[in-house]
Amino acid sequence: MNRPFKAVRVSQHVYWVGAIDWAIRNFHGYLTSRGTTYNAFLVLADKITLIDTVKAPFRDEMLSRIASVIEPEKIAYIISNHSEMDHSGCLVEAITILKPEMVFASSLGVKTLAEHFELGCETQAVKDGQSLSLGDVKLTFIETRMLHWPESMFTYLNEDELLFSQDGFGMHLASSERFDEKIAYDVLEAEAAKYYANILLPFSALVTKLLKRVSTLGLPIRTIAPDHGPIWRKYVDRILSLYSRWAAQQPDKKAVVVYDTMWQSTAMMARAVCQGLTDASVSAKLMPIGPAHRSDIATELLDSGALIVGSPTMNNNILPSVADVLTYLKGLKPRNLIGAAFGSYGWSGEAVGQINGLLREMNVKLVSEGVRARYVPGTDALAECRLLGELVGKTLSGEAS
Ligand code: FEO
Repeated sequence: MNRPFKAVRVSQHVYWVGAIDWAIRNFHGYLTSRGTTYNAFLVLADKITLIDTVKAPFRDEMLSRIASVIEPEKIAYIISNHSEMDHSGCLVEAITILKPEMVFASSLGVKTLAEHFELGCETQAVKDGQSLSLGDVKLTFIETRMLHWPESMFTYLNEDELLFSQDGFGMHLASSERFDEKIAYDVLEAEAAKYYANILLPFSALVTKLLKRVSTLGLPIRTIAPDHGPIWRKYVDRILSLYSRWAAQQPDKKAVVVYDTMWQSTAMMARAVCQGLTDASVSAKLMPIGPAHRSDIATELLDSGALIVGSPTMNNNILPSVADVLTYLKGLKPRNLIGAAFGSYGWSGEAVGQINGLLREMNVKLVSEGVRARYVPGTDALAECRLLGELVGKTLSGEAS
């Protein structure tokens, strides 16, 4: 077999055999500005085992990397930690080529794979806490239901103290480097935060439980090998602690102001709201929709205590771009937020009321009924917007009367 791509050694028994997607920018609505990787791992044991696969178009890259280490047909087992297509898209073809003895997945994983594919291979469900001997090494499975799919699980390689964590602790980051210590730390933290905010945030309560459980199990973790982005080995403790903080959603004194505008009136109002937040000594992030992507707005919200939203009224409605962002944010179920709305209008002015309704649906606690300005905001309307920002800021700081 032609082998243009090479595997990378991760630990005593493990090689990375995944693929790098330098080109992807839209991952089902998530702006992947830095591309991504689909990580698959080969465990070299008596029973050679492949952990997860890659997105369908990258099948040959994975097979080539496998072939750089072993004859691919020697793979005995495939473990599917997560059935989503970016990790299972080439599974059927891989099975046809590799002819493994068995595919292992959680009980829901077996069902979910069957609902996606005709695998053409025997499957076996593994239980939470169950171990699987590969001869000279042992794998232990940890179910991670709803993190972030019902069937998701982690696999732990006891001998190498290595956790295969599928999407958990991952990030969308294409790089020629495979390990965390080779990548600037600020990039790692920013991309890990973006991944958490956009994929795992709705399941934060389960993340907290899982972290406690992993700690109770007392498994030493020297390496975390996720299905996207770099492999953690220098910053293992740091990423565990960041997950604990993000899952708690304890906000900083920070507010996000999100808006779109037709003729710059709502933009002027947004800047005045921002001034009020600054006057109340609260960090403010002004995010015009368009230049700011919905997935970057979600990321900024991760450590924020307030969400303030602005939209003009168009045809008795909020702008579609604002509806898009609020729909997206609602699905991510952010907690512990206060908020408010503002916007300009010409004659009917429903937008502010509609935003208030949407924020209430998101369990955002409104500090006021918001500010509306007819056509172009004058000095008084802008002063009202500044006061709105100040009120939000003081409420965040616990100073509002
Ligand atoms: Fe990377 Fe949930 O798939």
